Amino acid sequence: MGIFQDHRKTITAGFVLALLFIAAGQVAGQGLAASEVIAALARWGHFLAGITWIGLLYYFNFVQTPAFASVSADTKADLFKEGGLVRRALWWFRWGAMFTLIFGLILLAGLIKEGRVSIDIMIGAALAIIMWFNVWFIIWPAQKKVLGIVEASADEKAAAAKRALIASRTNVILSIPMLFFMAASAHFPIFGFIG
Ligand code: HEM
Repeated sequence: MGIFQDHRKTITAGFVLALLFIAAGQVAGQGLAASEVIAALARWGHFLAGITWIGLLYYFNFVQTPAFASVSADTKADLFKEGGLVRRALWWFRWGAMFTLIFGLILLAGLIKEGRVSIDIMIGAALAIIMWFNVWFIIWPAQKKVLGIVEASADEKAAAAKRALIASRTNVILSIPMLFFMAASAHFPIFGFIG
């Protein structure tokens, strides 16, 4: 069956299943009000993109980088090339970050409109925005040099790899308090609300 072979079909199957449940809720349950649809979709998109992003961040830091320490130059070249493992992972990683931000900003606008902004969500969102900046303006430009998408000398490549590693490790550190405040904000805010 295609859904077990082609990952795009697998993803589509997940969305179809979700829509079936949502439709059942609309018919048999209390359903979503029209005014709730955007917030519900943005929340859903935010979590899907967020786990894609942070899941890959942890994969890079806890799995790929340590494993690459003992991978030969030839194998690395294979993994770095167009359509290879690293470019695919970085594609999902950076676009996961982008869509997490877009949906997060929609959620933030909703909170501001409703006067439900907590200091906790401001802390969580600020940390996540710094992380997004690191992905798009430090890690990805540096990786383009490492992977050979952008022309660079051996020295520039080594410097870029170091820069990407420091930014990526910084994001791992920031992700830990970020997730606490992101998740606590609506349920048990520590700092409280500013309106
Ligand atoms: C990129 C910048 C981000 C911004 C601007 C942002 C913003 C927000 C906002 C405004 C909310 C709504 C809180 C509420 O309804 O009270 C939220 C919820 C949430 N965000 Fe983020 N977020 C960002 C990144 C992330 C990341 C990377 C993750 C990691 C997976 C994440 C996970 C969550 C979760 C799990 C919630 C639900 C909290 C709850 O209802 O308990 N966010 N975010």
